[in-house]
Amino acid sequence: MLAAVVAMVPGGDALADTPNHRGFGTLDALVDALDRGDVDLDDVRTLGLFVFTTPFNAQDGYGDGPLDPAESDPVDLGQRPTLQGNGTLLRVNGLDAQSCNECHSLVSHATRPPTLGIAGVGPAVTNAIILPSVIDVADSTDPRVRPANIGQLPLERDGVADFSGRFANPPFLFGGGAIELLAKEMTQDLQALLREALSASSGTVTPLVTHGVEFGELVTMPDGGIDLSGVEGVGPEDPTGRTPEEVLVVRPFGRKGENFSMRDFDRGAMRFHFGIEPVEVVDPTGTGRVDADGDGVIDEISVANMSALHVFDVTNPAPTQEELDRDAARGFESFQEIGCADCHVPVLNTRGSLLPLAHPEVARDPTANVYLKVDLLATGLQPNGQGGLAVPLFADLKRHDMGEELAETFEHGDLSNREFTTARLWGVADTAPYLHDGRALTLRRAIELHGGEAQAARDAFVALGKRQQDRLIGFLKTLRTPTEPNEELVDRVGSLEEILYTIGVR
Ligand code: HEC
Ligand code: HEC
Repeated sequence: MLAAVVAMVPGGDALADTPNHRGFGTLDALVDALDRGDVDLDDVRTLGLFVFTTPFNAQDGYGDGPLDPAESDPVDLGQRPTLQGNGTLLRVNGLDAQSCNECHSLVSHATRPPTLGIAGVGPAVTNAIILPSVIDVADSTDPRVRPANIGQLPLERDGVADFSGRFANPPFLFGGGAIELLAKEMTQDLQALLREALSASSGTVTPLVTHGVEFGELVTMPDGGIDLSGVEGVGPEDPTGRTPEEVLVVRPFGRKGENFSMRDFDRGAMRFHFGIEPVEVVDPTGTGRVDADGDGVIDEISVANMSALHVFDVTNPAPTQEELDRDAARGFESFQEIGCADCHVPVLNTRGSLLPLAHPEVARDPTANVYLKVDLLATGLQPNGQGGLAVPLFADLKRHDMGEELAETFEHGDLSNREFTTARLWGVADTAPYLHDGRALTLRRAIELHGGEAQAARDAFVALGKRQQDRLIGFLKTLRTPTEPNEELVDRVGSLEEILYTIGVR
């Protein structure tokens, strides 16, 4: 921490070090340059790829500030301890990497050697360990690892490392733009249904159905308010104290389904992994020069840089599907017959192909503050003949109870430990390990571990003969990640300074 503080002092020793990051100026200037045609979308994607692959250092604002005992909670971002006070890393609860790509870099784990690339999945070693309060690695009954607030953890010497926290394996970013577009369209529909319910007479039941996915129902109450207790798979587990507008937002990103856009996710990722504070979070009104984590660096990542990162995120190429041979086609039939496709919906259709990107983002209204619309046809998806895109994601963008076996042990969040957003199966042939924490090393194991709402489908899979199980897994193995994702941008990074010069950044 001290190093970062020293860096700000003119003449300080640490000034010999320089930031690895580069400011991109203002969002307005970036958009103007796009409008004038001075830069094109690939230039902006290149800027985003630069952000995604930059190893941040202390001069960029890496890390949190020194602990202030007067401040609330040392697990809060900005206040986190580092291992032996090394000033840089702890690995648990963040400060766990230098660049986004360190964890998102496997395009295929099914090839030998593995296919590396930009924006892929991460192996188990890159799992994020989110807000842990106890990890009983010594399998100990020592009362010192038994803080009062987690008394219910069965700490005993039993081969189980009891754990309170989240352990999450990194998914890929491929096809993310289409997922974001689907979610934004669905949110618009849910908000429209809410407006209908608000103007309906007492007792009216309004089913929440959008893009063929059912999210339960709204009931109009005698006082004109809305009963949210019938809402399913969207919003917080307990909607008490939230407005219906807040609840009815589809959030496909993160394994718990907590983020409504990739940028929404990225804001948290910057802070969690690196202690890099986005200006839009710590200084939303843009007063300038805010050092929220007290590490001696101000304005750590700008709105323009986060926007370029968002453009990169959403223009990642979509996964692909191989031709089905006879066995795989029969496997796909089983997949549908035994209920897998109830959650892993093979295709969802968007209404349009233009994804609106906004700043500042308004979760419940994707049309607010839009600065750019990105055409997602270029990400390799097929038009659906109705003005939109067919998105073969194999998911419903909905959260489901997956049973006790897969439940997390997390005491901070307000999402149920048993609930996860349906894993999108596109690309799944290449992305082992599986499930939210990577505990399943094979597809078969991932299926066997399904419980809760998926219990019946799981049991039906187990009851299939071995041959038919193999066919179903053979079908899943036709779902591939894109070939050479983002390779075309890699050479362009060399022209970074030129692109910035064109935008007017000297
Ligand atoms: C230490 C490893 C690690 C680093 C570094 C990392 N990520 Fe991730 N990423 C993860 C994990 C784990 C998840 C799943 C998190 C969850 O379930 O809540 C994830 C999920 C995501 C998602 C959501 C994908 C989806 O489909 O749900 C996006 C977007 C993303 N990361 C972008 C980024 C960006 C941008 C950065 C850099 C600012 C970054 N990540 C850095 C591990 C990492
Ligand atoms: C009730 C909804 C539901 C049903 C039915 C269902 N799944 Fe899932 N599936 C999920 C959820 C949610 C996850 C993510 C669980 C997690 O992250 O731990 C998942 C994860 C997976 C994964 C791991 C993907 C990855 O990238 O980690 C595979 C493979 C899978 N399902 C296949 C199937 C198959 C095959 C069937 C039918 C036998 C099936 N699922 C039925 C909801 C469902």
